[in-house]
Amino acid sequence: MSVTIERVDVCHLAELAVAQPALATVNGHRLCVIRTGEREVHCIDDTCTHGAVSLSEGEVDGRTIECWLHGSRFDLCTGRPTGPPATRPVAVYPVTITEDDHVLVDVPTESEK
Ligand code: FES
Repeated sequence: MSVTIERVDVCHLAELAVAQPALATVNGHRLCVIRTGEREVHCIDDTCTHGAVSLSEGEVDGRTIECWLHGSRFDLCTGRPTGPPATRPVAVYPVTITEDDHVLVDVPTESEK
């Protein structure tokens, strides 16, 4: 089994409203895509590390997202929890915005080798 990184076009920038998280499913990964500024987008794992709920249903405040169930907050740049009860970080995926405003995310893919 080997892991490679695939750059995937998840959406157009115009489809993302600032501070409105969106769910994208890519290569079996549930991703939470969050626009935090004019040309600033973050992508983290959608599943809270405290419980199996969707962070894309949470609330964005600046560069953090708050889980709707118990209120853990995660830093969108590092994935680290900044408030309890979660103690483990969520994965962060690099985002590139192209000149024509496509949002590309680097997502790991596993393949049999
Ligand atoms: S499930 Fe997210 S903080 Fe508990």
